[in-house]
Amino acid sequence: MTTATATQPVELPAGQSAPHLREDLLTPRFYTTEIDKAARTSVEENRPVFEAMLAEMEADYNRNHFDRKAPLDRLRDLSADERVAWESYLVRSCVSEFSGFLLFKELSRRLLKGGRAELGRVFQLMARDEARHAGFLNRALVAEEITLDLPKLSTKRPVTWFPLSWVIYSVYLSEKIGYWRYILIDRHLKANPDNSFAPLFDFFEPWCQDENRHGDIFSVLLKCWPGMSQGFRGKLLSRFFLWSVFLTHSLTVCERGEFYKLLGMEPSLFDEEVMRKTNDTSRRAFPWVFDLDSSRRYLELRDQLVDTFREMKEEDGFFAKIGLTSRFALLLMRQFSQPMVPCLEQVD
Ligand SMILES: [Fe+2]
Ligand SMILES: [Fe+2]
Repeated sequence: MTTATATQPVELPAGQSAPHLREDLLTPRFYTTEIDKAARTSVEENRPVFEAMLAEMEADYNRNHFDRKAPLDRLRDLSADERVAWESYLVRSCVSEFSGFLLFKELSRRLLKGGRAELGRVFQLMARDEARHAGFLNRALVAEEITLDLPKLSTKRPVTWFPLSWVIYSVYLSEKIGYWRYILIDRHLKANPDNSFAPLFDFFEPWCQDENRHGDIFSVLLKCWPGMSQGFRGKLLSRFFLWSVFLTHSLTVCERGEFYKLLGMEPSLFDEEVMRKTNDTSRRAFPWVFDLDSSRRYLELRDQLVDTFREMKEEDGFFAKIGLTSRFALLLMRQFSQPMVPCLEQVD
């Protein structure tokens, strides 16, 4: 998953002194939710698909994929700036996967305690996958001689409370956007093998299938709560979470584009492709998605938001900063209110 994080400086273990890592590190944010409500989730109406998902998770197709002995050292030298981009990517990804592990582990613990064995088991199996992903990225960091003390980070985590509907919408999108990010990088590197400078990338294809399965589980959970996707509430939740997840992605990818350039990708095109694919995939789960096909307005606003964001970071003048902040806020509102299209298979 990719969005369950917030930017905050974190202490690195003693002896570690790379400033870009400290600046870029993301503290895993711990989310809690309406656990009692989650424990009342009725899967009966969706039992065949729920059991199929559970069986797939138990089958553990990637059991032997994340080989603990596979060497993860880089295949070629990078310049100092390129190394910063690579290491920052690894740290952000590792912490993001670890955040997913924390959320799923806590939900599984509470659901099992609440007597919901099947639901608890599904979350336990998703936590298993995220722990593997974080552990694998951590090994790539060790190959760069960077040690992250993940268990220590988890003891300092801030706690944020979200209603259950928010958790379901946002985690569904985190998983699906994570899936598209991994698979699009994988496809690009298969077409351009010279740009694949680390063996880590060879693991992305089956890896992304884990994220895809996790997203499908949240899609089933959303179906178990039909009120969450009906009427005005369903439209507002779809709009808000698609918009906020896309915005976070655009600002992160375009602002930290060096990593994608290192892979021979154009950051804004990669961002656009990830958004389009995630928006299309969400048609199968959400009642509404953004209309990205009829016009490029949403993407033009994305470009303006990224440019204004950059200017805001560089501007020191007080009044100029206020002007840029107002422009940014206006652009946010305009992008948020762009047209959406109903997803026919979701409408009763
Ligand atoms: Fe993951
Ligand atoms: Fe996941």
